Amino acid sequence: MIATSTASSPVVYCLLLLLLHSLHPSVSALILSGSTARTSVAALRSTNNDDNNMSGDLKRILVTGANTGIGLALTKQLVSEYNCHVYLGSRNPERGAFAVEEVKKCTGKDSVELLTINVSDDASVQSAANTLSEKLGASSSKLYAIVNNAGTGFCHNTPPSEILDTNTRGPRRVVDAILPHLDSTNGRIVNLGSGAGPGFVGGNRLSKERKMRYLNPMEEEEIEEEIAHILKMNDEYAAYGGSKALLACYTMKLAQVHPNLSVSILSPGYICTDMTRGMGASKPPEEGTVSLIKCLFEDLPASGWFWGSDGLRSPLHYMRNPGEPEYDVLFERQWNFNQGRGPWGLKKNAEIWNGRVAQVAFVVVLLQELITGKGVIASITDGDAVGYAFLGLAGVGTLGLTIWLAIKGDESDIVF
Ligand SMILES: *[C@@H]1O[C@H](CO)[C@@H](O)[C@H](O)[C@H]1NC(C)=O
Ligand SMILES: *[C@@H]1O[C@H](CO)[C@@H](O)[C@H](O)[C@H]1NC(C)=O
Ligand SMILES: *[C@@H]1O[C@H](CO)[C@@H](O)[C@H](O)[C@H]1NC(C)=O
Repeated sequence: MIATSTASSPVVYCLLLLLLHSLHPSVSALILSGSTARTSVAALRSTNNDDNNMSGDLKRILVTGANTGIGLALTKQLVSEYNCHVYLGSRNPERGAFAVEEVKKCTGKDSVELLTINVSDDASVQSAANTLSEKLGASSSKLYAIVNNAGTGFCHNTPPSEILDTNTRGPRRVVDAILPHLDSTNGRIVNLGSGAGPGFVGGNRLSKERKMRYLNPMEEEEIEEEIAHILKMNDEYAAYGGSKALLACYTMKLAQVHPNLSVSILSPGYICTDMTRGMGASKPPEEGTVSLIKCLFEDLPASGWFWGSDGLRSPLHYMRNPGEPEYDVLFERQWNFNQGRGPWGLKKNAEIWNGRVAQVAFVVVLLQELITGKGVIASITDGDAVGYAFLGLAGVGTLGLTIWLAIKGDESDIVF
């Protein structure tokens, strides 16, 4: 009996795995995900090392707010190391012209031009788009990327309404006006977010219903509604965090509406700039470009994601510090054959936990085999009480928890 049960064990395990898989596919998905999902990303990352500056292909990039801080540091790197022609956006033409000279002097190249653009002003953005159109038309080329870097807050002493207007509506103004000049198949849009965004969403300023909205793409009207809500708080920190959180919602919407573009939002890190001066940030602007360079040139696994300053994916509902593990709910979901949909009308978090429950059931059955020394079939044919008890436990546990989650579950895999 022992012999037959050991011989049949692998078969029984496989059948069980199949059975459990049919109960919920993420069992095998979870077993697979560890190896496959991650290597594919690593492979993606290593494919395009040469593309960045080897190819003679000049990339034209608009960087707003580029006369100082991170924008200026990025511009220097793009011109000197990445074979780019940068349109250096600055709302103040004198300071912009000064920065252009600095970039030329620093890099020894002149692939940089001033573009006067005030992202808070519709007319200024439209006139910048016209100027850009003329500049591009002369070489009949398209823009490779838009970097929405211009922003305000904190030490700039700006009132909440202006923070939200510049940081949240500004990038929309720029994209609306400049999109016709962006390469429609390979083009990229990179928005400068901040860890303050997820900090605001996860904090105590919003109701749970509101928090849930911030995890999803938002239409313009929804964003305006949230802006009005944040303005009532009359707090510049809430305005800053909220402006960046809403920028993430806009970024997701852009990614949805323009599937051919690569759209990202990122945190540059806690960098010492005019905006943060005196607040304890010590890293120089040159170190704030890791995620920018990644979002501009690497093949990304998805569009619309939020990237941390270390170039790893970060969540929208809590602040992930550099060095902490990459946020990866979507890896599980990608490997979930349901593509993130709950089967049979299960609630979304039931869909994830259900797979775990099935795994637990599998372990219970394994334990039964180890303890009784019999395979499942053998213990049933023998009428073995312990075998039945374990099998019952596994079955009732899986089904019971599934039903419980289906009824009591949440439409989100996120717990605040
Ligand atoms: C591009 O070239 C520069 C100098 O030629 C080099 O320092 C830099 O590391 C290169 N960048 C990449 C991404 O290959
Ligand atoms: C930018 O535009 C806003 C809105 O029109 C205006 O209040 C502000 O003074 C402008 N800034 C500059 C530097 O022109
Ligand atoms: C997007 O890409 C697909 C496939 O490459 C192409 O057929 C389609 O025309 C593109 N759409 C736009 C708006 O460029």
